[in-house]
Amino acid sequence: MKKLFAAAGLLALSVGAFGGVAAQDGFACPEGDAEIVVAAGAVGAELEVFNEQAARYMELCPNITVTALETPDLATDRLGLYQQFWEAQSADVDVFQVDVIWAGIAAPHAVDMNEYLSDEYIAQFFPDMIAGQTVGDKLVAIPWFTDAAGLYYRTDLLEKYGVEVPTTWDELTVAAQTIADGERAEGNAEFQGYVWQGNAYEGLTCDAHEWLVAETGESFITADGEVNVNNEAFIAAIERAAGWVGTISPEGVTTYGEEDSREVWQSGNAAFMRNWPYAYGLGNGEDSAVAGLFGYAPLPMGAVRSGACLGGWQLMASSYSDNPAAAASVAEFLASYDEQMARALSPQGANPTIPALYETEELLASPLFAAMGPILETAYPRPSSITAERYNTASTIFFSGVHDVLTGVTDAQTAVEDMEADLMDLMAG
Ligand code: GLC
Repeated sequence: MKKLFAAAGLLALSVGAFGGVAAQDGFACPEGDAEIVVAAGAVGAELEVFNEQAARYMELCPNITVTALETPDLATDRLGLYQQFWEAQSADVDVFQVDVIWAGIAAPHAVDMNEYLSDEYIAQFFPDMIAGQTVGDKLVAIPWFTDAAGLYYRTDLLEKYGVEVPTTWDELTVAAQTIADGERAEGNAEFQGYVWQGNAYEGLTCDAHEWLVAETGESFITADGEVNVNNEAFIAAIERAAGWVGTISPEGVTTYGEEDSREVWQSGNAAFMRNWPYAYGLGNGEDSAVAGLFGYAPLPMGAVRSGACLGGWQLMASSYSDNPAAAASVAEFLASYDEQMARALSPQGANPTIPALYETEELLASPLFAAMGPILETAYPRPSSITAERYNTASTIFFSGVHDVLTGVTDAQTAVEDMEADLMDLMAG
């Protein structure tokens, strides 16, 4: 650990930011005793990794107790929980793990991290990510890890059926059907061609955003505020996805989140899966039926490009905390170079938000990060900057409309016309 801090020239990390008790590695612990509660994710091995990180913080700063508040897996449910704390101006949670798309929503409830972090510390991060978390002059949250989704594919089954890694969504549809037909004919009735996230929540916004960006090159609200959903190629893409339900994908995919897809995949019952990088290390774990049997590639292209949803999570210190300095200190520690390295190399495989980490021997030697290079290049952001505090409403319009088509409630043409009208109203309001 010490070596890494030294290698990055970070021995002076944040000294003076608090003027508190000096501790090892130059990290200055806050003064006084405090109990800090972090609302943390529990997707995959996230919570276990977090608890190890919290233990290291407490070893460094024994005057502070850090505990996790376990939060729901689905991002939309997590936001609903956070909003209850924020509306109540509750001091029960000190640090929130916040989604990359929530900066505008979270801003009124956050302390300004600029007041707690040194310029040197902030300068380590990707400048675009810092800009994305800055609302007005306030640095709402510190980027903790970034996410871009890709296509997991079974190398053994591709070989068995003489199928190439699909590079278009149409190729994926055919390849998944070929493999599913073959495996089902051999007696595995549960086998699925393709698993993904079809539940009505933020995850479906990501999946459908990927189809939209692939076909049109742009998001559902463009950078100049135009609504972009009523498009023939996108309509066809939603219809294609509706056609997956009950053929290459289970009927139940319209209730799936990330973990549901991973469960089917890791039991060996799927040829392809759309998921985030966290599923890579877990898929190679001891309890996985697919360990060593898969690859991870950029998502298929549509008419225009491949467009991985750009995701990721940040750490925000609550302005309702009784100990904002201690809350900010915990966030600072968790997002530090050393801790990002630990998290990147953990089974959870989180992508760092500090560019220098990608140049390290450790990450350069990692098969996950070798696969991530081309995937990250395809990443495309959701329209959270332009919608700001309205993002969740915009996303709900988008995922609800798509979900209605997937579940047969409405047809794709009607759905995009309704979405278009609702999104235009929202943007005009
Ligand atoms: C991942 C992404 C996040 C996204 C969520 C959707 O957690 O990091 O940005 O909103 O998935 O399910």
